[in-house]
Amino acid sequence: MKTQYYTATSLDGFIATEDDSLDWLFPLGDLNNSSYPAFISEIGSLAMGSATYEWMLRNASKIAEEAGSPWPYAQPAWVFSSRMLPRVDGADVRFVSGDVSPVHAKMRAAADGKNIWIVGGGELAGQFYDAGLLDELIVQIGSVTLGKGKPLFPRRVLSPILRLVSVRQMSAGMAEARYEIHKGDLGETA
Ligand SMILES: NC(=O)c1ccc[n+]([C@@H]2O[C@H](COP(=O)([O-])OP(=O)(O)OC[C@H]3O[C@@H](n4cnc5c(N)ncnc54)[C@H](OP(=O)(O)O)[C@@H]3O)[C@@H](O)[C@H]2O)c1
Repeated sequence: MKTQYYTATSLDGFIATEDDSLDWLFPLGDLNNSSYPAFISEIGSLAMGSATYEWMLRNASKIAEEAGSPWPYAQPAWVFSSRMLPRVDGADVRFVSGDVSPVHAKMRAAADGKNIWIVGGGELAGQFYDAGLLDELIVQIGSVTLGKGKPLFPRRVLSPILRLVSVRQMSAGMAEARYEIHKGDLGETA
């Protein structure tokens, strides 16, 4: 059972533009011809921040066209926010705020031996990392730069904490790199 931050990023380390657009991402590859189907089949619960959740609300009709439902996840989801947010009909979503550790314990119980997905954003993934709860970083690196935007992982993580375990070219537009986080080396973080 692993806690995984799985996301796509631009070459210069942004997961969305400053105004939360992902329009740069979709031309780069087809989700169904990526590692995503195998990845999601091993996920038992997931967490995201409010900007990611609100992106899903704004794009509900596009998601429904592709996934058959405005909420594409069968797994229980935790959404971190300090605000009251609208619900998506039929979605198994729990709204939470504050310390990620007690939420992770609940996610682990709900995942029932499967993996936990930290969907994003980067700061939320960083909070799981700070708590020593993140096991893997799996990034699809798009062949684009954005100049500025929402950061992939706003933390300073120095060698040898991240260990590159695989690199795969998915297309001319995307490569995937997988890193294990060696928690024994977390004391090295500056
Ligand atoms: N490229 C990709 O594959 C990919 C993957 C995931 C997401 N995205 C996109 O990337 C962007 C991410 O946005 P973002 O960086 O702003 O991150 P985010 O994690 O989606 O949202 C950040 C917000 O979540 C809330 N939050 C975070 N941690 C919290 C905590 N511990 N307790 C309570 N609330 C907490 C805060 O807002 P409030 O308290 O004000 O609600 C915070 O401002 C979105 O546009 C998303 O669609 C892209």
